[in-house]
This record gives sequence, C-alpha cells and structure tokens, in this order.
Amino acid sequence: MRTLVDVLAYTRYNPLMLSPVEEIKSRLDIVEFIQGYVRLQKAGVNFRANCPFHGEKTPSFYVTPSRQIWHCFGCGKGGDVFQFLMDIEGQDFPEALKVLAMRAGVELTREDPRIRSERNRLYDINEEAAKIFQTCFAALPQAKEYAAKRGLTAETVEKFRIGFAPQSWDFLLSALMKKGFTKDEAERAGLAIKNQEKASHYDRFRSRIMFPITDSAGRVIGFGGRIVDFFPDGKAPASSSDRTEAKYINTPQTMIYDKSAVLYAFDKAKHEIRTQDKVVLVEGYMDTVMSHQAGVTNTVAVSGTALTSRQLQMLKRLCNTMICSFDTDAAGESATRRSLALASEFDFERKVAHIHTGKDPADAVLENPKLWAEAVENAKPVVDFYMDKAFTDYSPATADGKKAIAAMVLPFVADLFDAIQRDHWIKELAAKLDVGEASIRAELERRRGAEAPISQNTQPRTVSDLPLHVSGRRERLEEKFLTLFAMIPPELRIRETASHHIVFRSAENQNIFAMITAGSKESPSEGMQDLEMFTFKSEILVKDIKDTTEEFLICKRELEKECVKESLREHQQKIIQQEKEGNQEAIATLLGEVNDLHKILKQLSTVPPHYLYA
Ligand code: CTP
Ligand code: MN
Repeated sequence: MRTLVDVLAYTRYNPLMLSPVEEIKSRLDIVEFIQGYVRLQKAGVNFRANCPFHGEKTPSFYVTPSRQIWHCFGCGKGGDVFQFLMDIEGQDFPEALKVLAMRAGVELTREDPRIRSERNRLYDINEEAAKIFQTCFAALPQAKEYAAKRGLTAETVEKFRIGFAPQSWDFLLSALMKKGFTKDEAERAGLAIKNQEKASHYDRFRSRIMFPITDSAGRVIGFGGRIVDFFPDGKAPASSSDRTEAKYINTPQTMIYDKSAVLYAFDKAKHEIRTQDKVVLVEGYMDTVMSHQAGVTNTVAVSGTALTSRQLQMLKRLCNTMICSFDTDAAGESATRRSLALASEFDFERKVAHIHTGKDPADAVLENPKLWAEAVENAKPVVDFYMDKAFTDYSPATADGKKAIAAMVLPFVADLFDAIQRDHWIKELAAKLDVGEASIRAELERRRGAEAPISQNTQPRTVSDLPLHVSGRRERLEEKFLTLFAMIPPELRIRETASHHIVFRSAENQNIFAMITAGSKESPSEGMQDLEMFTFKSEILVKDIKDTTEEFLICKRELEKECVKESLREHQQKIIQQEKEGNQEAIATLLGEVNDLHKILKQLSTVPPHYLYA
C-alpha cells in the first residue's frame, strides 16, 4: 500500500500544473463514485451509509463532499477516493490511479515508472487482445451466425465484448507484436504458449468464441474460449487432435488473473447485487451472459472452479442471499450442492432456482427468457427445495425411500445456523416420513461422523472443494481450519494461536490441533496415525491453494465467530435454567460473560481478516 509520502512524491512531478492525482480528484465527485458501491443517504451537508468494510446496523460511514474524503467512525478506515478504491477492490496505487484516470478522462503520461509496471502491461495486452478478438468476430459471418443461433443479441455481444480467435497459430501474436507487445508479454498474459523445444511461441486460443474475463473494475484480465463447430476458412482443422480439445479453455494463472479471486461478470452485476441484496450464481459463461440478457443482471459465475472463500467474501460484502441454479445433469447438480454448502459457511440465505424443462440457464433463456427470470423469481429456500425434490424422487412409503429422502435433505438441515429452523425441519421430516423425531436426530448426529454432504464425482481442486467427511457448517470449518493450520508457516501458527476463541467439537480435532501446535515430532504416539493421515490429506488435497495464509485467516475468523455464537447459545440455555432455579448470582455472572462474548463477536465481525492482514 502506498504511503502519503509516495503520493506526494508522485504529485510533485509537475509543480506548475495540477498533478494527475489532483487533476483526477478535481474532476471526480467522491459522492457519486462511492455511490456506485454503497447506498449513501444525505445527512446534513454530508452523506452516510452502513460501512462497506465492516458489518454494522447503524451507519457510521461518512462521505464529506466539501473535502472529498470518507471516514468510518466504526472501523476507523478513511481517506480519499483513491484509498476507497484501493480498499474496496483490493487494488494497489498504480491500479487505482489508472482506473480513476480513465474514469475522470485524465491522460497519464507513459513516462511515469509506476504506469509501466509489469502488471499494467498485462492489463494493456489483455485489453488489446479483447479488441482484436472483437474485430475478428465482427468480420466473420459464421461467428455472428453462431452467436445468433445461441440466442445472443448484438447488444449482449457488445456489452460482454464477445469475440473470436481465428484458427491460426500466430494470428494474435503477430497482431499484438504490431502493437508493440513482445512474445514474452503475450506468454506472461497467458495468451501465447511457449514451445520449449523449438523455443517458439504460438497462440493459446485458436478457433474459439472468446469471452473476456474482467476484474471488478471492468478491466480485461483473461479469457474463456469456447470451441466452435465451424471452420472459418472452410478447411479441416490444422491437426485432427484439435477438435478433441476441451470445450472451454481459460487463461491460466497470471500476474493479474487468479481464477479463485474472480467472478465472471462481477463488474457488470455488482450494482444490481447490492441493490437487490441477492446474487444469482450460475455455472458458465453462456449462462451468465444469457441470464443478463434475460434481465437477471445480478448474475455471476465462477470460471471453471469451485467457489472459493475469496469469492464468497466479495459477494458477502454486497448481499445476503445467494440463488444457485439447479442443473439437472449430475455434474451441475453436484456443483450446486457444493456452492450451497460453501455459502452456508458465510451465512448466506441460500435459495435454489429450478428450471423445470431440465435445461441450463442459457438454454432456458434461448427458449424463453421468462422461463429463467421466473425460475429466479420463484427460487425456493434450499431446504424446501430439497424436501420437495426428495419426496418427488423417492417414495416415503418404503424403508429405502425414507432413507434416501433423509440422505438428500439432512445435509442441508445440518447446515442451518439457526437451531429453531433446524428443529422445524427435523419435526417436518419426521412427520412426513412417519418416523420418530429421535431417529431423525440420531441420523443427523451419525452423519456428522460419516458421509460426505458433497457429491464426490468431481476432482477436488481447492480446500473448499474437499470431500469432507462431516456434514455441518461447524464441522466443515473445523476440518478446513486444521488442514490449513497444518500448512501455514510455523511463525504464523504461533502468532495465530497466541489468542483464539476456538473450541473443537471432537476430542479428535482437539488432539490434532494440539499435535500440530506442538510440532509433530513430540506428539504422543497414539495420535500419530491421526496426524499422519491428516497431513497426508492436506498435502494431496490442497496443493492448488494459492494463498494458504489468506484462506487460513478467513477460515479462522469464521470458525471463531461460530464458536463464540455457540457459546452464546449455551449461555442462553444456562440462564434459562438458572432462572427456573431462581439463582440470581449465577445469572449475573452469566450475563457478564454474555456481555464479554458479544464484545468478542463484535470485534471478530468488525474488520474482515482480508483487510487486517493485507
Ligand atoms: N468449463 C471450463 N473448462 C471446461 C469445461 C467447462 O472452464 N473444459 C467452465 C466454463 O466456465 C463453462 C462452465 O464450466 O462455461 C460450464 O461448462 P458446461 O456446462 O460444459 O458448458 P456451458 O456453460 O453449458 O457452455 P455451452 O452452453 O456453450 O455449451
Ligand atoms: Mn450451456
């Protein structure tokens, strides 16, 4: 993060004129800019809102138009329009400068060393590639025919900047080189691949419909390319292996593209997500684009991965309800279940949109845009949805049927945070299955130690994706916490256990935690097997996680909140008990503890860990 001194040094670069930073500030209205992220309300000469950087119910986030600054009295964050953009989008100064300059119509001189940063070259080359692909698309009748066949309107093609990569090994490379980019830059941007043997480069995307992937500020950072069934020059593909390639290929990890931190169309959807307090999550590029076309403009997608904590955090800042589309094919269904399970870790209200014709959202919109818009409108709370589905799929008349129904519904009941809601569904399920409530409860308990709630027919790719053998939110958090705890650097482990509010549910987890803390060498032998199994699992299953530390910090925070909330619930029970017994002294002590717990909870909810440790 830039210090004030850096900014001043930069602004001194032309003393006679306004510096770019000053120029940008003078042209942009901070109120209007922040309004794009937060719903501001007039409060005298200032504006006020609930702070976007910490959870609060009474607004303490202020924007002062006269001084063009913002400040939150709740979490103490504040600054100018640059600081706001850097904080809310996680950008560094050069990035924020570039975005705001563009918005203010201020031209930045190429000579500034910050602008020439490598990252910015990658933004530039991606932007250039997007333009080139768009031009190719416009020039190719087959591409336009394909788009029309899929139901894409010209406006949608324009809005999402859909393009086409020609069938050629070097079309893009040579076009980029004419614009002054090097082959190495194209490779670093993921647009070209280097053939190590021949030391030559070739285009990654060939003969594909191109979907530019943008960051939350709308800058192109990568692409998804869909295979097409026509060959532009009328010839067969260059090599016969070509058409056995994957249906979609995506930009690999680059300096600016990290699929675990990106949601497709987030930049176009974020405003609507905030206003509606809802996000619609779909599976693919086409689904997203067509959903927007059908007027469901709060739709985003993950790019070929499972949802990550980063993405959930991005969404949680904007809304509290997540609507997942229910795909009838097996892979689609398991992806939906996985996303729903993860969303429960972030306390989203979870709903399911179901298209009855068994199509994916893109196909539904093609058939009739209303089909999809109505499915979203009528999305059902997740437990209701799976209750209905279970009773449609299986018969409650037979023992096997009862078992299958319980197996489908219980993981979602276990995920419910609210004990009263959980109780409601246990009773409902018992009644509808005509079995005792006790056996439903026993089954819920038993499943905690047994089956995976998440379908395992896809390869686990991130820690969020692990086929965990436990079923509740709390259990999932504990397991994830321990897995990541074993992976973070020892110094961090020591720092992070100096103070914490975590109480493990099982003795086994408590034991693993103690062993990792102590270092495996000194661990008691009877625990060794557990720990070894555990380490093994961590190593193979989470090797793809990019930022273990970040994932760990987020997870720790969520688990701590969960533990404190549980402790609060226990206190409530105890207080009720002591009231019955008329034990005033014990009640007073408990109330004191409740007060402390609330303070801890507030502190845990104040600043998201992402900001604390950034
Ligand atoms: N995906 C991917 N790589 C693949 C297959 C899929 O990255 N090899 C991602 C893409 O983001 C794709 C999404 O998963 O959009 C869903 O894939 P799929 O359902 O197979 O495709 P659709 O989105 O339905 O695409 P289309 O309608 O064009 O067939
Ligand atoms: Mn599709």
